[in-house]
Amino acid sequence: MRMVDLIEKKRDGHELTKEEIEFVIEGYTNGDIPDYQMSAFAMAIFFQDMTAAERSYLTMAMVESGDQIDLSQIEGIKVDKHSTGGVGDKTTIALAPLVAAVGVPVAKMSGRGLGHTGGTIDKLESIPGFSVEITTEKFLELVNQNKLAVVGQTANLTPADKKLYGLRDVTATVNSIPLIASSVMSKKIASGADAIVLDVKTGSGAFMKELDQAKDLAQAMVEIGKHLGRNTMAIISDMNQPLGYAVGNALEVKEAMDMLRGEGPEDLRELCLTLGSQMVYLAKKASSVVDARKQLEDVIASGKALETLKTFIRAQNGDPSVVQEPEKLPHASHLFEVKADKNGTVSAILADKIGTAAMLLGAGRATKESEIDLAVGIVLHKKIGDSVTAGESIATLHSNKEQVQDVIDMVTKAYTISDTAVAKPTLIYDEIH
Ligand code: URA
Repeated sequence: MRMVDLIEKKRDGHELTKEEIEFVIEGYTNGDIPDYQMSAFAMAIFFQDMTAAERSYLTMAMVESGDQIDLSQIEGIKVDKHSTGGVGDKTTIALAPLVAAVGVPVAKMSGRGLGHTGGTIDKLESIPGFSVEITTEKFLELVNQNKLAVVGQTANLTPADKKLYGLRDVTATVNSIPLIASSVMSKKIASGADAIVLDVKTGSGAFMKELDQAKDLAQAMVEIGKHLGRNTMAIISDMNQPLGYAVGNALEVKEAMDMLRGEGPEDLRELCLTLGSQMVYLAKKASSVVDARKQLEDVIASGKALETLKTFIRAQNGDPSVVQEPEKLPHASHLFEVKADKNGTVSAILADKIGTAAMLLGAGRATKESEIDLAVGIVLHKKIGDSVTAGESIATLHSNKEQVQDVIDMVTKAYTISDTAVAKPTLIYDEIH
């Protein structure tokens, strides 16, 4: 087989076979196929798309390029959840103990990543003592014992995706549904999930700005999951404004704990209950999604969800007293208020601008080497549909820097305040099975 012939075949819109796709992915991973040929191939996919069969072959070839995590020692159906990412998305931190509290095993491999804030692991590390550096043996043992453990991504997972994603990033081929869908699903499948719940975000702060695009991506991922024998479904949720109020690592952990206590923002609670009830149902711990939701509401009300969080923190060397005493989480030395410049109703909040503002305070990494400040971030006080009066605080900046006028200006500009009443946006747009 010659790579040039396969590029030509895809360029001309023909369907590739399983063997041809495996040839490309193996060759690219081991260095036999150079970046310039792979770039042309990615661009051919960008314009010609892939059939459902090709998408599944590509996903599986990337899964097989590296280690695959064996979770078979864990009892029960392991359901993983993946979000396509957004600002203030602390869902995993609340959702994992929530579903574990009703008996769904959660064996979570997580990353740090680049972005407005750290990844789930960075957020969890804002809990004093908490460690994700546990052996695979210990990880499996903790999931069997407590139904929940989180480990850092140390294994050599999907190296083909890592290499291809790096290339796509600099060749204008990131935004391709078959390439995104196979990239995401290869990581989920290599991590050992039996079933997968996807949270596909749409809106100004999301990867997929338009609802139709988000639906297409969700459909593509669900189809790949099903082809490869994983029960998969997707929720399409709103990212036209940050989720909840907090954006920043320790601040988000506190908000996730509030949610498990039965407090906290309504949108975070609703999203956790929606995703969680699908996870419980796919894990066959409930006879229907409605029954699953009821079980989740019960463990919040009884305090069992919060107890599961404490057990999880203790098992990974963290200090569980932070749950009752969140002031033990890292906190910033300065608070600055961002004030409304007029009376009216909040009609828009540019989520990505709020994310960038949090990053400027130090909450996220610009490069892999950057240090993040776990204490800093932004707490919004007003969301879309809320009324405000001029001079009222719309957000508080938690900062370890003394000069933050640029960040104040950025947050002010992220808000649009209108004279007319505005309805609260829809949170859950659709579900794809
Ligand atoms: N996230 C991924 O993991 N892969 C993509 O291709 C895009 C976003």
